[in-house]
Amino acid sequence: MKSLAKTNAMLASDTFKDKTVLITGGATGLGFSMGKMLLELGANLCIMSRKQESLESAKKELQSAGSGSIWIHTCDVRDSKEVETAIAYFIKQAGEIDALVNNAAGNFIAPTASLSHNAFDAVLDIVLKGSKNCTMTLGKHWIASGAQHKTILNIVTTYASTGSAFVVPSAMAKAGVLAMTRSLAVEWAKYGIRQVAIAPGPFPTEGAWERLFPGGLDKKLGVINKIPLKRPGDHRELANLASYLLSDYAAYINGEVITIDGGEWLQGAGEMNFLLQLTDEQWASLRPSS
Ligand code: HXC
Ligand code: NAP
Repeated sequence: MKSLAKTNAMLASDTFKDKTVLITGGATGLGFSMGKMLLELGANLCIMSRKQESLESAKKELQSAGSGSIWIHTCDVRDSKEVETAIAYFIKQAGEIDALVNNAAGNFIAPTASLSHNAFDAVLDIVLKGSKNCTMTLGKHWIASGAQHKTILNIVTTYASTGSAFVVPSAMAKAGVLAMTRSLAVEWAKYGIRQVAIAPGPFPTEGAWERLFPGGLDKKLGVINKIPLKRPGDHRELANLASYLLSDYAAYINGEVITIDGGEWLQGAGEMNFLLQLTDEQWASLRPSS
């Protein structure tokens, strides 16, 4: 199906002027794409990942996207001390951070019974503990400094709500992050901190594809047919949604998760949706004659 997606930035180019956004895992994939659009919209950017090399090459590539500053710092989000050090560095450089995007993740497909404790924990710790470490570090700083007008955007998945076989550590961790989103939306609103989440369906990235569809599994199993719109998402579609949710245009949205998946999860859920495979002729033959 032909995509009608508009991929230009939908907000005005000064929407994030004088604002600084921290994106975890912002050197690759969707984190990179969100950062690029935020720069186009006037933001300064802080990005962290475990790898200095990928941070440096992302910074180089992102520099032409806007005139805002880009700060990088290595950090394993699983380690609360490393998170505190990186966030203190960013605050020192930028003066203040206005928004956090908990985007860093780890994931792979596997039969759950085959997982070692270490394998299970690797994913749980990056996604759940990592998002908690960043949220708590920055949240406490914001609350202590009396800051207002702050936003936390958590990137989850549609299976944070539905659960999913073969990615159980990720499903458990993302469900926890979604619970944190909804819980802190109420508890931290009085400090001027908003919480929002995005649940993406499939958006091709190297990181996700090599771990979720090893050996071209997506093509072999016809993954595209799971999506009513018959295409994966475009990074710019997700970046526009993220930009909107982080902006003041979304100032009254708090505690919500927005799904962007071309209708994929609903197709998997609807009781009679399997009838999509019937042809027009088969429908005609099933019609009772009057
Ligand atoms: C089974 C595996 C495995 C696999 C690793 N392990 N990969 N077990 N199947 N495919 C096991 C290892 O054997 C080890 O257990 C344990 O996991 C930890 O592995 P390490 O490689 O030492 O861990 P680490 O270096 O911390 O790497 C973490 C990681 C890795 C999650 C395993 O894949 C990673 O760095 N991922 C980051 C990026 C990423 O995953 N991006 C995709 C996000 S996509 P033992 O017992 O041997 O010690 C996403 C999309 C969701 O979230 C929805 C899509 C629609
Ligand atoms: P990706 O490119 O692999 O992004 C994951 C990022 O997280 C990487 O930059 C990685 O950098 C970083 N990271 C991993 N472990 C980390 C750690 N311990 N500390 C700090 N950073 C760490 O994959 P993606 O597809 O763009 O995923 C981005 C987000 O979208 C994730 O939250 C994912 O769950 C979500 N999502 C993606 C899809 C999709 O179809 N792509 C669908 C639903 C949800 P380093 O390895 O350098 O640390």
